[in-house]
Amino acid sequence: MSDLQTATSSGSAAPGREQWTSRFGFLMAAVGSAVGLGNMWRFAYIASEHGGAAAVLLYVLLVFAVGVPVMIAELALGRSSGLSPIGAMRQQLGRAWAPFGVLFILAGALILSYYAVIAGWVLRYAIVGLTSSFPADAGTYFGSIAAGGPAIVFQIVIMAVTTLVVARGIGSGIERLSSFMMPALFLILVGLAIWAMTLPGGGEGYAYYLIPRFEELFSLETLAASTSQAFFSLSLGMGAMLTFASYLPRTANLPKDSTTIALADFSVAFIAGLVVFPVIYALGLQGAVGESTLGALFISLPGGFAEMGSVGRVVGLFFFTALLFGALTSTVSLLEVVVASMVDETKMQRPLAALVAGGLITLVGLWSALDTNALGFLDAVANNVMLPLGGLVIAMGVAWKMPDARAQVSEGTSPRVARLLGGWLWTLRIVVPPLLIIVLYETIPAAIEAARVLFSGN
Ligand code: TRP
Repeated sequence: MSDLQTATSSGSAAPGREQWTSRFGFLMAAVGSAVGLGNMWRFAYIASEHGGAAAVLLYVLLVFAVGVPVMIAELALGRSSGLSPIGAMRQQLGRAWAPFGVLFILAGALILSYYAVIAGWVLRYAIVGLTSSFPADAGTYFGSIAAGGPAIVFQIVIMAVTTLVVARGIGSGIERLSSFMMPALFLILVGLAIWAMTLPGGGEGYAYYLIPRFEELFSLETLAASTSQAFFSLSLGMGAMLTFASYLPRTANLPKDSTTIALADFSVAFIAGLVVFPVIYALGLQGAVGESTLGALFISLPGGFAEMGSVGRVVGLFFFTALLFGALTSTVSLLEVVVASMVDETKMQRPLAALVAGGLITLVGLWSALDTNALGFLDAVANNVMLPLGGLVIAMGVAWKMPDARAQVSEGTSPRVARLLGGWLWTLRIVVPPLLIIVLYETIPAAIEAARVLFSGN
């Protein structure tokens, strides 16, 4: 406790712990974690499958009514303890909660294992755009690079870069990377959205995206899919935001920062939709979005870029570069959870921990690199089951067990916001748990079915 008091009085993070060099740096790193493959593609998929703008509205509602409260809870756990998930839960919630921290780390490792494979495909397409033109027969091309040796090579490059950045630490590693890549991603995306407005035939795409079709909205499945997408996109439910917050000073304004991060993450997803939908419709690729999330991104779009000649090549290069920036700032946040936990729990040196964790996760990722069905299965388990479960644990733990949770969050906020924090606690108590239980009720059977298909082969 005396550690905590020292930290409080000096206004800095826990003594001896590295700190973000600026608020901007923290925000870029957190937005970098949030913005990734999830925004650029799964979001468009959900919008297209579940009622266009109707799904977008539901999604925004979920982000702010559920995502932001859970993010504040994660940030509070991390900042109050100055520790990664296991230690944070042990210290703030009690011994019995520490095993959930282990589960979080496993979830992070699992997500990273297959996420790096997809990021590897992105890297490959960015290089293709840079060095030659996009393949006209993108389906065959993707089939030849998606799994096996070619996939492994690029997966390893992604994991190596990720490991290197995390080994360098918070300020000169993660913060520096994100402070460059996030603004760049944003500029590229806005540029692409403006270019997309000039496409003949894109109008129908905007209509499909921006006109709400409420009749497609109301189902438990839509609610479950949108909620787990909100968790995945905001990097919630496995202690990534928690770990980032352990490097924050006491002066940070957690509710304000959470809102900023969520707003930035949603904006990027929304703007990505303003690129994807007009392009898809201008090229007559309708239907591609709905067929498979990955197929559309790695087959239909590159095929479309190939059709557009040299303009397509430039646009495609920018598109995949932006995607790569989003993916890399996400992979570092996933590895950081594992590495910070090793450093906190065993007092290991950071570079060694990064090397060990990065190496092991690369090995686990070989499964996904060799078999795209395995990738889909791991995604179903991690995204649909583990993150909502983790969100449930965090919401309940902070709302019922964390001592002075409200006082902890109000540190750094204005008195006006501090007065609203009672509502925050009650949201964690009565809104978040039932919703997440509905999600799990929907997703657990689906994950079991996916496992059955994967392991029995039919
Ligand atoms: N949010 C990222 C995306 O949308 C993925 C991600 C990074 C993530 N870190 C995470 C998801 C932690 C869950 C938990 O692509």
